Amino acid sequence: EQIEKGGYDHFMLKEIYEQPEAILDTFRGRLLSNEAVIKLAGVEDNMKKFLAAERIIVVACGTSWHAGLVSEYIFEDLARIPVEVEYASEFRYRNPVITEKDIVIAISQSGETADTLAAIKLAKSKGAFVFGVCNVVGSSIARETDAGAYTHAGPEIGVASTKAFTTQITVLTLIALRLARAKGAISSSEFRHHLIELETIPSKVKEALESDGYVQTIADIYKDAKNFLYLGRGYNFPVALEGALKLKEISYIHAEGYPAAEMKHGPIALIDEHMPVVVIATKKGHYEKVVSNIQEIKSRKGKIIGIVTKGDKSVKELADHVIEVPETIESLTPLLTTIPLQLLSYHIAVMLDKNVDQPRNLAKSVTVE
Ligand code: G6P
Repeated sequence: EQIEKGGYDHFMLKEIYEQPEAILDTFRGRLLSNEAVIKLAGVEDNMKKFLAAERIIVVACGTSWHAGLVSEYIFEDLARIPVEVEYASEFRYRNPVITEKDIVIAISQSGETADTLAAIKLAKSKGAFVFGVCNVVGSSIARETDAGAYTHAGPEIGVASTKAFTTQITVLTLIALRLARAKGAISSSEFRHHLIELETIPSKVKEALESDGYVQTIADIYKDAKNFLYLGRGYNFPVALEGALKLKEISYIHAEGYPAAEMKHGPIALIDEHMPVVVIATKKGHYEKVVSNIQEIKSRKGKIIGIVTKGDKSVKELADHVIEVPETIESLTPLLTTIPLQLLSYHIAVMLDKNVDQPRNLAKSVTVE
């Protein structure tokens, strides 16, 4: 097992560090920026269906559901297709309205999650076209779906999902960009710009990983906190949810993710000097609004950990700590802002002496209801 961990103390840390390579593997052969082309056989073969789709319904569970939420922003923003993101377990029992004009995208790392599989079967029985985004090749969901695209992240052993999440977002971005171009929703120069930016992501993830040492320092300061709040807006709202989930899963500290602007409708009541608040406040995407949310936290003495764009000044003045990530276009920020949040949960769990790779009560793949 030590050999399999490749010199890392845990699979989770190894998998966090594998992300630059995993993301590269996800778009290798699919993203050809020189020719300004995206090649995804599962999408090309079914382009007519995709172009005729009136709506995309995403079904997933856990971290995959968070990747689905990120994709809602990407599909709507770039491809102008309405999206609904559903917990598979709710969708399957809700008597949902599904028609032949819907495309269902099922996202699953393992490809074996029982609720997601059942949601797919239900959607198929109503005539929807079902597209799978899976990591495990030949898995039940990969076989049950009409078409799909693998993430090619390689095996993920740690129960807390890391590289599966970022590679799911990568594949979903490729699909959205391909559809955006096919529909004429973005210009060829915008399309090319996105491709070029996406190609830089692996090296930017590598740079984001350099925050590891400082994240450890922060982990040490806040490891005994009883609660954490994670806030983000727009594309980074799902990242806040995912950051909170990571911390809960492996450190057993209660953590809540919230859209930053919703804070005033509830969570703000919890803020005092004992509450660490992780705020994703990157330059692109509602920056000024998030800065004013940070001011509200500060005036209530909350401890602020900001995830900011390299070179940021405003948040630095207000926050107790800032962790920098490289700059990119708004739609790709989740691929970078996720990294320090994964590291933060990892280091807190290690410092609390928890079983990082196999947290209590959780399973890597949930094949029962
Ligand atoms: C379990 C795992 C999570 C995962 C979720 C969905 O809860 O512990 O890490 O996100 O299942 O799994 P899937 O394989 O469908 O992505």
